[in-house]
Amino acid sequence: MTRAMMSVFLTLVAVSPALAASDPIEGKKIAKRWCATCHVISPEQQTRASADVPSFCDIAQRKSGEQLKTFLIDPHPKMPDMSLTRQEIADIVAYIETLKP
Ligand code: HEC
Repeated sequence: MTRAMMSVFLTLVAVSPALAASDPIEGKKIAKRWCATCHVISPEQQTRASADVPSFCDIAQRKSGEQLKTFLIDPHPKMPDMSLTRQEIADIVAYIETLKP
């Protein structure tokens, strides 16, 4: 394998969603920054912008990790498309899964 081919290969490995390790701590940080304006993202959070936005605890009980990933790749019209990267999505989903009862 040439050096150039090797670096292409390594880049593919690095961005491949299946191989990216998801990090719930990072997911919580992203959720605080991008999602907490509308959603209650953790049991400690007291305030939320709107009563019709489901909390992350509530979402965790109703949705599987796969459903969340699909939703976040192509969000619902009522929710802004935040153009999350696959890594950010994996991290957020890992965090939401920690909220399952
Ligand atoms: C501008 C407000 C807003 C922001 C910011 C926002 N959301 Fe939402 N989100 C909503 C609303 C409103 C709904 C409910 C949509 C509906 O029921 O039609 C929703 C629904 C969802 C759902 C689906 C819940 C279900 O019951 O199907 C998920 C998952 C979700 N949001 C995750 C996130 C994540 C992760 C972030 C941060 C990256 C985020 N949201 C940021 C407003 C927002």
